Amino acid sequence: MNLALEQEEAVSADSFPKASAANIERMLRNLNHFNSTPEFGTTRVLFTEPEVAAREYIKREMKQLGLKIREDAAGNIFGTYEGTEPVLAPVWTGSHIDTVLNAGMFDGMSGVVAGLEAVRLFEEAGLRPRRSVVVVVYTSEEPTRFGLGCLGSRALAGKLGAAEAKELKDKDGNSLYDVLKSLGFPVEHFDEVPVRRGDVKAAVELHIDQTGELERADKTLGVVKTICAPSVYDFKVTGRQSHAGGTSMARRRDAFMASAEMALAAERLTKESLGKDDYATATIGRVNVIPGAVNVIPGEADFSLDVRDASFEHKKELTQKILAEFEEIAKKREVTLDSKMYNDDHPMPCQDDIQKKLVEAAEETGISYIKTISGAFHDSMLVGEFAPVGMLFVPSRDGISHSPQEWTDFADIAAGTDVLARALFALADE
Ligand code: GLV
Ligand code: MN
Ligand code: MN
Repeated sequence: MNLALEQEEAVSADSFPKASAANIERMLRNLNHFNSTPEFGTTRVLFTEPEVAAREYIKREMKQLGLKIREDAAGNIFGTYEGTEPVLAPVWTGSHIDTVLNAGMFDGMSGVVAGLEAVRLFEEAGLRPRRSVVVVVYTSEEPTRFGLGCLGSRALAGKLGAAEAKELKDKDGNSLYDVLKSLGFPVEHFDEVPVRRGDVKAAVELHIDQTGELERADKTLGVVKTICAPSVYDFKVTGRQSHAGGTSMARRRDAFMASAEMALAAERLTKESLGKDDYATATIGRVNVIPGAVNVIPGEADFSLDVRDASFEHKKELTQKILAEFEEIAKKREVTLDSKMYNDDHPMPCQDDIQKKLVEAAEETGISYIKTISGAFHDSMLVGEFAPVGMLFVPSRDGISHSPQEWTDFADIAAGTDVLARALFALADE
């Protein structure tokens, strides 16, 4: 046993001040003022007024902490706490500040605020690791505006270039590229956004648990083993619009009924695909029926499909089965089916060494934890394409998120930040 080493470790562990739940609450509540739907949860869609204001707010917080601020052509924000050897590959931490419609104030924002608080702890304790620690706000993790999630981290991973950004349109037909340009982002450098493997030493994201597993296990932290990945599609079903009273049941080509049968098939096939240790989900979260009148048989329906799995192979098998059955239903019901795939992402394992550092930090601070998997996707899923990643979950009441009911105690985020800060420091000082 190396006593000198043990002593040194004890000193560095003791030198960490405790994260402030009050400071975390202050930042989260401040962020929550930037909201398009204050009467019903939190809505902050990419590059709407509240989202732009929230970006400015985060930059002000970064400035106050003395971080060096940089933004890239995809709108990602980087706040750097410089290490003593800034030429070394930095360690990243962070998450997103956009939300789905009528969401809560924690999904994404907790990870950004925890990153800022972790850096404040370094500053307060006079701790400067060898490597820089960068707090990152990734552009639009939620697919709310453009139908595709993780836009910023996808660009960093080289999976969304200028050509794709020009193709990607919101419901009003504006492309991501043009929106970025109109806001003054240097889009001519869009293809310089990707990060080369080796340029980032590690990236650790704190996030709320979205399954309720932590609460059920009565543990404060979840050290994530794997992040499940989605395949996302849009389908358009075209039948024949006609009169609700005048068209007998036998003569209908009802686009909605065909869609409904497809929805149930997706649910059944997903449930049937589950072995004992599998995790797979299928969700149809958006349905549009045209023309949408009580006495008209819908001639058209379009809907989204989101299939997720912890295994890429299993997801592929399942989506192929679902698509084949959709085709059969379309044939049987004499409707046509068009599909468009938005993304087919790869599940991302969290690096063993980062998991170990998170576990060590949890044990050092006496904070309880479990190992878990993430059913939700996160920017870390894309960041993992070019850097080793780790994720740390904090409990969410009843596991509810993407809802105004979403709630996480500030003290739990502070506990997570204590562990995050130690793990970041250990990684950055290597
Ligand atoms: C991200 O919020 C997801 O849908 O998992
Ligand atoms: Mn989310
Ligand atoms: Mn999120």
